Amino acid sequence: MIIIENIKTLHNHLFTIKKDSKTIGFVPTMGALHKGHISLILKAKVENNISVCSIFVNPTQFNNVSDLEKYPKTLEADIIKLKKADCDFLFLPSVEEMYPKNEVNLYYNLGLIETTLEGKYRPGHFQGVCIIVDKLLAIVMPTTLYLGRKDYQQCMVINKMMQDKPYNINLCICDTVREEDGLAMSSRNMRLDEIERQRALRIIESLQMIECNLKIGSLELLKKSSVIFLEQNNYKVDYVEIADAETLELQTTWDGKRKLVALVAAYLNDVRLIDNIIL
Ligand code: PAF
Repeated sequence: MIIIENIKTLHNHLFTIKKDSKTIGFVPTMGALHKGHISLILKAKVENNISVCSIFVNPTQFNNVSDLEKYPKTLEADIIKLKKADCDFLFLPSVEEMYPKNEVNLYYNLGLIETTLEGKYRPGHFQGVCIIVDKLLAIVMPTTLYLGRKDYQQCMVINKMMQDKPYNINLCICDTVREEDGLAMSSRNMRLDEIERQRALRIIESLQMIECNLKIGSLELLKKSSVIFLEQNNYKVDYVEIADAETLELQTTWDGKRKLVALVAAYLNDVRLIDNIIL
């Protein structure tokens, strides 16, 4: 695996590769890699000639300084995992490289998907995600971008950002990878102690409760029951919502036909966990 810290060097490597009509699969990450990330790398490898992973803890997408400071950093272990997965390139830029002084950030017109759900609780988060993913795509110019469905809203936001740009890049959204007991893999899980790790299962259970009890008519009781269930288990709930799976418009009733997604975000002590399931 070739590790590159500098935009120009990566550009030069990838330019030669593209000149030979080789395809590039790209997986952007913030490090603290787990099996979910590695499954994206493996898919990128199977489907392309070249795989590129980036590790960059992007400051502009953290609306909370302490969340940024506490974000797990495990670079040595990450490199070992990527080498084992036989990833071809790791792009490891510095903050100065990605955010040169005096550069004016772009603004992305994302509509409802920017301000609902995660956007309501993490203002500015999705602008930060778009800024960095846009920059990374412009550098890597991959054939296909690989993202995990665990960040359901992020996938929609990035899809919208890409559609509004003259990129000719495919977006491959891959299923959430879960631990054997059902917990969605997340870098934030590393911050859970043993008791919290057990209690983290209440997140997927709150979604399964919705899945099992979904019926035509009002959805209000369904959502409320999951909120109460989480609160009884010492969670501080940001939201449990049911939304249109395509537009992310929040739903209060169901006609039995519309494709829905149930989404949750809640704090277990100071660790914020999110998950979703398509109903
Ligand atoms: O999902 C993430 O890890 C980040 O939001 C991403 C897509 C790498 C952008 O920083």
